[in-house]
Amino acid sequence: MQNSVTVIAPVNIAVIKYWGKRNEQLILPINDSLSVTLSTADLCSKTTITADPSYEENKIVLNGKEENFDNERITRCVEMIKHRALESESCSKELLAYKIHVDSENNFPTAAGLASSASGYACLVYALAQLYGLKKQEISDIARMGSGSACRSIYGGFVQWQKGVQLDGKDSIAVQIAPASHWPDLHVLILVVNDSKKKVGSTSGMARSVLTSELIKYRVEKCVPQRIHSITQAIKDRDFSKFAEITMKDSNQFHAICLDTYPPCVYMNDVSHAIVNFVHEFNRNEGETKVAYTFDAGPNACLYLPEKYVKRVLAFFNHVLPNDNQNSVEYLRGTPVDIDEETEF
Ligand code: DP6
Repeated sequence: MQNSVTVIAPVNIAVIKYWGKRNEQLILPINDSLSVTLSTADLCSKTTITADPSYEENKIVLNGKEENFDNERITRCVEMIKHRALESESCSKELLAYKIHVDSENNFPTAAGLASSASGYACLVYALAQLYGLKKQEISDIARMGSGSACRSIYGGFVQWQKGVQLDGKDSIAVQIAPASHWPDLHVLILVVNDSKKKVGSTSGMARSVLTSELIKYRVEKCVPQRIHSITQAIKDRDFSKFAEITMKDSNQFHAICLDTYPPCVYMNDVSHAIVNFVHEFNRNEGETKVAYTFDAGPNACLYLPEKYVKRVLAFFNHVLPNDNQNSVEYLRGTPVDIDEETEF
């Protein structure tokens, strides 16, 4: 039995956002969400896990810094994978008893404020599953217990996180709705907007929204189910303008909820709002929707666009948002990706 594994997991960027939990402990969401898993060249986590009889304690090093292994989310993921391995007798009891050392790093700047918890926990859980021989089993429900959005990074391409209805969360899992190869023309540009202000983290921000926002109830009941249905169809049909419109509307609604939260969570800054305006201006000039923006819990923009527009959009943004003292924007490129090609052992 192999005692050490190394795994790479990609980030995913949601086009229908997950925002709000119905169960904090089990990380069960109040709505379905849908995302695209992105190529790992610029954005991924890499994790090595080694189990050894000589280790006296469990250890975790994140980006070169030792962190507390007894963090509730980490221990829960480790315990659940071990429990599943024990149940399915996929590895020896001896191996399960060894302490482990985890070494994990992101290849993108942590300061970029990009969703590192999604790829980080997906990577941890995937690596544990490999270590303990759980090759073909469902593990997205375990990644979900590390960080909700992480469950979507277990699969490549276009992925839906179904909120599920069961109290124990067994049916709150991610499913792939289309592989990356289904839409190779779809590209991604991430505009990393420098911002020094400390934001409210996603976990506490969404808890505050659930408690205080009126709009969030409307979104969950009246908007998300229809949007999931329509965007799934748009992906199946490779209908870019429909995909783009739903993506932008959902990002805007998510940030409207953040502002409807009390006290409000303000994630987008002036540069983010300028990007929104420029995207609409670009689309207006084209006479058709050719670029879509979406923003997570931070000021960075993720743009979805057909490949042939990448150069023009980059040139357009370099012109309208020149890097000077006020704006400093870094561009990262990506495409949807499938997982198998990117995983190394
Ligand atoms: C805005 O998955 O980071 O990126 O489950 O509390 O760890 P926890 O939250 P997290 O929230 C991500 C929120 C989001 C939207 C999304 O990715 O769907």
